[in-house]
Amino acid sequence: MQWKRKDLLGLEELTAEEINFILDTAESFKEISLRPIKKVPALRGKTIVNLFFEPSTRTRTSFELAAKRLSADTVSISASTSSVVKGETLKDTARNIEAMKVDIIIMRHSMPGAPHLLAKEVTPSIVNAGDGAHEHPTQGLLDIFTMREKKGKIKGLKVTIVGDIAHSRVARSNIWGLCKLGAQVSVAGPATLIPPEVERMGVKVYHQVEPAIKSADVINVLRIQMERQHRSLFPSIREYSQLFGINRERLKVARPDILIMHPGPINRGVELDPDIADGPYSVILDQVTNGLAIRMAVLYLLAGGKGEAVN
Ligand code: CP
Repeated sequence: MQWKRKDLLGLEELTAEEINFILDTAESFKEISLRPIKKVPALRGKTIVNLFFEPSTRTRTSFELAAKRLSADTVSISASTSSVVKGETLKDTARNIEAMKVDIIIMRHSMPGAPHLLAKEVTPSIVNAGDGAHEHPTQGLLDIFTMREKKGKIKGLKVTIVGDIAHSRVARSNIWGLCKLGAQVSVAGPATLIPPEVERMGVKVYHQVEPAIKSADVINVLRIQMERQHRSLFPSIREYSQLFGINRERLKVARPDILIMHPGPINRGVELDPDIADGPYSVILDQVTNGLAIRMAVLYLLAGGKGEAVN
């Protein structure tokens, strides 16, 4: 197939064929990061701007490295050091970046739909690097890529997402992507952290962890997103950890070949115990490694790449 979209805004709007195309393209990019000289000329002459209005370690660094490894020119703009602090609107900021003839804008914003708005306003491709609690498509793609790499398939795979589903863009992108590719997805968490009518997305809901993880192939553990909770949604962190935290005791009911994933950053000892995060079931750092290949693939496809320039 050929990539036809101008922007990558979410996995909800992608077809299974488009998701598989990105995953397959990422396979061919993974090897570049193992070379002594980690650079190919695929995006030479292209300019990519990282526009982040929320904090980030993984996504921002990963996109910046992905662009550099493809030989694109990159610029990073943080909200705190941009003219947004002087009152400039998001549209004006984007139009000024557009006027400098950039090719791709990678954007993280706390407002759901902010990248969709800009995608209609400006000619550069827009990549959603996380819009509020809505979507984080490259995180969903790298999670699915890691599951496929470790388990050999997505169709029929049993994936349980545990934690703060209601405030999680990672959960939404995982659910859209995994369901399109034929996985069986469950979510588990306190009722106050499960969005109403989430079953309509094709998932099964549990309010206890053990039955949700008993037959799972993969557990994707999510961070409690305190910064998006504007009222108390559970009695205490201690109680949350006791009832929903993934620890050695709770994993006794899980399969012996269970995969433990987490998008990061981890609240160690809250949603995930340190010995599990760093233990043999964990593929958390593999997710980060795979994120680079996914982001190289996304930038390459949005810039019009067809596969011939990888070497
Ligand atoms: N997983 C993720 O988006 O991490 P960052 O917030 O560090 O980018």
